[in-house]
Amino acid sequence: MAQWSEGYVTEIEYIADCFPDLAPAHLNLALLHRGIAFPETEAGFNYLELGFGQGVTLTMLAAMQPQGRFYGNDFNPSHVLGARALADSAALDNLELFEDSFAELLARDLPPMDYIVLHGIYSWVSTENRAHILALIRKLLKTGGVVYISYNAQPGWAPKAPMQRAMLEFAARHGAETLAERFGAAREFLKSLEQAGAAYFVHNPVAQEQLAGLWDLNDAYLVHEFASENWVALHHADVVRDMAAAKLGFAGSTTLANNFPLFSIPPDAAALYQSAKDPAMREMIRDFAVNTQFRRDIFVRGARHLEPADLDAGYRQLRLALRRPLADCAFDAHLPVGAVTLDRAACEPILAELAKGPRTVEMLAALPALSGLHPSVCVDTINLLLCLRYLVAVQPTEPTVAMRERADAINRAMLARAVAGRYVAALASPVVGSGIEVERGDVLFLAAMQSEVPLPEFAWAALQRAGVSLTRDGKALDGDKENLQELERRAEEFKKSRLPLYRMLGIA
Ligand SMILES: C[S@@+](CC[C@H](N)C(=O)[O-])C[C@H]1O[C@@H](n2cnc3c(N)ncnc32)[C@H](O)[C@@H]1O
Repeated sequence: MAQWSEGYVTEIEYIADCFPDLAPAHLNLALLHRGIAFPETEAGFNYLELGFGQGVTLTMLAAMQPQGRFYGNDFNPSHVLGARALADSAALDNLELFEDSFAELLARDLPPMDYIVLHGIYSWVSTENRAHILALIRKLLKTGGVVYISYNAQPGWAPKAPMQRAMLEFAARHGAETLAERFGAAREFLKSLEQAGAAYFVHNPVAQEQLAGLWDLNDAYLVHEFASENWVALHHADVVRDMAAAKLGFAGSTTLANNFPLFSIPPDAAALYQSAKDPAMREMIRDFAVNTQFRRDIFVRGARHLEPADLDAGYRQLRLALRRPLADCAFDAHLPVGAVTLDRAACEPILAELAKGPRTVEMLAALPALSGLHPSVCVDTINLLLCLRYLVAVQPTEPTVAMRERADAINRAMLARAVAGRYVAALASPVVGSGIEVERGDVLFLAAMQSEVPLPEFAWAALQRAGVSLTRDGKALDGDKENLQELERRAEEFKKSRLPLYRMLGIA
């Protein structure tokens, strides 16, 4: 570990992921669902991300929300360089990226913030750093301001704790040169313990599943997840206490379904959940009922409950778009409580209308096909579709030419990264106002559309440079002919099903 890293990983850069849940519009939507007032963003706002990693989320937000001022820190200079390069590609003038530790950031003179977000930080840093983070929130968050904080949670993450410790100890004694090799070997070591019939795995079937899941992680994720010396899984009640010391109260979750007990609390535990008076106790019951592994909490400094008229206006003005192609919006779906079958009479007209473009809830509620339904059914249906991530909250107005140009600039930079073989799973949407997920296989097709080369040939050339060939039905494809045929098939599917959605979201 480098001296300045305070036990955190610096040898490998973190993955360049984008988290649309960190967008002000998504945070505000979660608060609307909970009936809690949220910051007005139209006239301007300040937003701080602590530990921004590769900065993809923050940079895309800054590009798509010119009325906001965005700030962020990460103490890893490689991360800061990567984020600055992305910001420079769109000449952003509303974003400041600091190569600061949390302690150093505390000493800076920054304006009061409407939003402070930290994703994948709080359960990986030392107690001192958690205290610095709380001091930053206490110092910088406005009254009425919003904090998003995610963390590895108890009890679902608990079986991983002994595994993390064993990996840390094993890796510390292993002679390989790189951290990725040492933790790769540590993962194999755990596997050999399991195969030797270690009672820990026999008595903890969830640990067996979690162990198997380690092979889904790439090197960067594996190392950033497990190599921190300060790794801990937190109880929600502890985070509530920490936040209370900074004068914040729990206000909801960016996992939208969790804001609706009906969608997220298993029926058998519902009475127990409802009987608990203290919200922290309710969340504890939830975490045990569904064995929560990771939490995405929202806290506010002063919760003001919306009056019925404000709540109604908030919903009516809410503007929405499809988040996935219409054909992928299945009527048999899954929520944290289990399988649900959607009511076609209510869902079909809403989804069909949104396939034409973004609409407000007011416009959707006025659809003739919904006139026979009670108005609350329309809102309930929309909320359900949002919880299923079929829909996304978008900007209140159509994007300006300048916003589209900024999105195009960032997306050209992201697509160039994809063509160079780097991980890209999101692009900037001026319609949504943030980054939004795209199918990983589609990024090369989207890049090809900016060239004269046909999509399959372009994608195959990039894949060959990266030393990758495709598989179909689990079978590896061999040579140019088979790979190109498969890419032709995938390109047709892309054009038919996902390209119209990307166009609607301003990505393509
Ligand atoms: C797991 S990564 C998450 C990054 C980003 N939030 C994301 O989700 O993509 C944790 C990040 O915190 C940064 N970090 C860890 N300790 C820090 C500290 N004391 N001060 C500033 N940044 C820190 C790391 O460099 C890393 O980029």
